[in-house]
Amino acid sequence: MADSPSPPVPHGPTSKALKEGGTIEPVREILWGSSAGVRKYETTHEMPEEMQQLIVKLMVVQADTEFASIQQHRPWLDNAPTLEDRWIEARIVADEARHGLQACRILKDFGDGGQKMIDDLLAKREGEHKLDAFNMRFDTWGDVGAFTCFVDRVGVYQLRAFQECSYGPLARAMPLMLSEEQLHLNFGVSVLKRMAKDGPRYAGSKEEAQAAVNKWYPRALDMFGHSNSETSRRAIEWGLKRWTNEEARARYIEEIVPIVRAAGLELPNPEFDRRIL
Ligand SMILES: [Fe+2]
Ligand SMILES: [Fe+2]
Repeated sequence: MADSPSPPVPHGPTSKALKEGGTIEPVREILWGSSAGVRKYETTHEMPEEMQQLIVKLMVVQADTEFASIQQHRPWLDNAPTLEDRWIEARIVADEARHGLQACRILKDFGDGGQKMIDDLLAKREGEHKLDAFNMRFDTWGDVGAFTCFVDRVGVYQLRAFQECSYGPLARAMPLMLSEEQLHLNFGVSVLKRMAKDGPRYAGSKEEAQAAVNKWYPRALDMFGHSNSETSRRAIEWGLKRWTNEEARARYIEEIVPIVRAAGLELPNPEFDRRIL
């Protein structure tokens, strides 16, 4: 007697749902915004002009931060306190170069205009970058720890906002970038923790770590941009970003409070030393 066919595997709505940290299968439809349910954009020429301009604007900032952070980390490649720290510094620099390349690949999709942006990005030197956090030097090892803990973490929020966005090539670049950024965040927390706990037996001092927290936390909060930004509202409308600047900043603050406390350090008030509100 022939085997009876096995029952069909149910495909519930979860197969298309967004999962934090990446999706198992690429989602083909736009998940939010005014075109929700429509097939994602796979090429730039099928996109409305405003959407093209938004992607270019977002990718220029993204790539600029990646290339800038390489310049900031560079002096510590052979000055980090331990051999393992030097190796992780080298790994972070390699990751940031790959992220810059990834953002430039998206810019390349926009033809000659995109290539011109890439050329301009590659010509930028220290102090010429768009966001304040990327024009500041890493003067102490505490700066390296606080930058990777706070500023890279904002980067993760920016990338997570693009997860499963309406431009397929951009959405598909996110899972690998996010997993690499996780190493940077964990490293930053561990540097601050070791400095606070072991002081000069490891590197610097608890005071140096605290000074670095006070220096980088306000710049990290500024990175989310203005609370009433029209660009972020339009990016949500086009299915490119998931959250407004203010929503992302609030989630970030909620996440960082227990992390810093567990490292034995204190966070300044979120309004302290802010330039962009
Ligand atoms: Fe990065
Ligand atoms: Fe990073």
